[in-house]
Amino acid sequence: MKKKSINIGIIGFGTVGAGTAKILLRKRKELERKLGFPMVLKNIADLDTKRDRGIKLSAGVLINNAQAILNDPEIDIVVELMGGIHPAKEFILQAIRNGKHVVTANKALLATEGHEIFKAARENRVDIGFEASVAGSIPIIKVVRESLVGNSIQSIYGIINGTSNYILTKMTEEGVDFASALKEAQTLGYAEMDPTFDVEGIDSAHKLTILASLAFGVPFSFKKIYTEGITKITPLDIQFASEFGYKIKLLAIAKQAGKDIDVRIHPTMLPYDHMIAGVNGVFNAIYIESDATGSQLYYGRGAGEMPTGSAVVSDIADIAGNIKTGAADRMQRVNIPAHSGLRIRKIEDIKTCYYLRFSALDKPGVLSKISGILGSYNISIKSMIQKGRKIEKAVPVVMMTHEAREKDMIQALSRIDRLSIVSEKTMYLRVEGGEN
Ligand code: NDP
Ligand code: HSE
Repeated sequence: MKKKSINIGIIGFGTVGAGTAKILLRKRKELERKLGFPMVLKNIADLDTKRDRGIKLSAGVLINNAQAILNDPEIDIVVELMGGIHPAKEFILQAIRNGKHVVTANKALLATEGHEIFKAARENRVDIGFEASVAGSIPIIKVVRESLVGNSIQSIYGIINGTSNYILTKMTEEGVDFASALKEAQTLGYAEMDPTFDVEGIDSAHKLTILASLAFGVPFSFKKIYTEGITKITPLDIQFASEFGYKIKLLAIAKQAGKDIDVRIHPTMLPYDHMIAGVNGVFNAIYIESDATGSQLYYGRGAGEMPTGSAVVSDIADIAGNIKTGAADRMQRVNIPAHSGLRIRKIEDIKTCYYLRFSALDKPGVLSKISGILGSYNISIKSMIQKGRKIEKAVPVVMMTHEAREKDMIQALSRIDRLSIVSEKTMYLRVEGGEN
């Protein structure tokens, strides 16, 4: 007897949609052998049905109306790969209400509207797969939600935006300027529709919202995540960081701090020998410390057509298997975290080490004024470099500090920046992987 297929409809035939379709169609037989039943890509909906996406589809598969997929009683799984908030949200809710399981790569939507979507899925007993929403090809959602379920996670440090890592890597290794590195990342299909999401840390914050919620049992808290991007990083800071033995990375951090958790995105100095410091180009990596396993590093491509398509297909296969075994909505039972009661600590209350670059006049007494103010806020200097000699002109004075409280640092810097001997706003970066 012919085995009944699982029917799939994709909405959005862009970078990820095309990658997903390529895997589903080119590996149809292999997937059937692995799963034990066929999966059929019944329709793909996109506004533009003429553009070449690098794959040939059978007649009638590509349509221009998402409604035909959402209302087709034969479609079991709707795959939303159009991006954006509206109408993606309405499409997903409609699919759920129609009893369809959903797969999405849309971290912006989940981070901001996830509560409503997961609630609807629970009520309608359907699955939501979102592996592709964080770190592209790296199966980190499965790891945090399922594989590490027997662990209490203490910290997660990650590079989870390929575009900004690509830019920082190019700036570090080739001295390329910010704008041309961004342009290249956009051409390669890594950047979001709005690239400010990548370079201002917003895309990382979307992803960290999802990870932190799964790892620490906190509600989706996108608005509470401190988010700072890479646009103010200069070649000078990259060079000084290297002289002190550090690399600058846009880091997503979620870590337990007593009864609180720190959840933040910012450019971070990491010692050269930290495993995450060696993650370059468009690659993503997530470093997890948990009680039973100890440290683990997950590494791979975080964006792009085929790597992201691979994550989407893994969700489709999981859900298809659940449907076939009568366990549909199995993923729902593990992906809505029980609330742990942990609170997200305000950025002013974090404690970390800092890199400070002052632009200060090169004249006697300057250093003692700066260090005096730092000392009065309990900030202790670990090491220092001053470059150049320009009598009575501003030169960069760079310091690394021991651990200090952010609130103290902000107050000290605001006093220092008002001194007449300081010519520009002081640049500061947080440092991880050392004494803290
Ligand atoms: P693209 O812009 O390449 O593709 C989106 C596609 O959806 C476009 O072809 C667009 O058509 C189409 N579309 C827009 N509105 C509709 C609609 N109403 N009905 C049908 N089709 C529509 O985006 P990506 O593939 O890069 O991203 C898709 C999702 O995956 C996003 O949520 C993104 O954040 C996420 N993601 C992307 C990754 C990547 O590497 N690119 C990695 C991980 C996640 P048109 O262009 O004609 O408007
Ligand atoms: N714009 C994202 C990135 C795509 O650069 O990582 C993957 O989510």
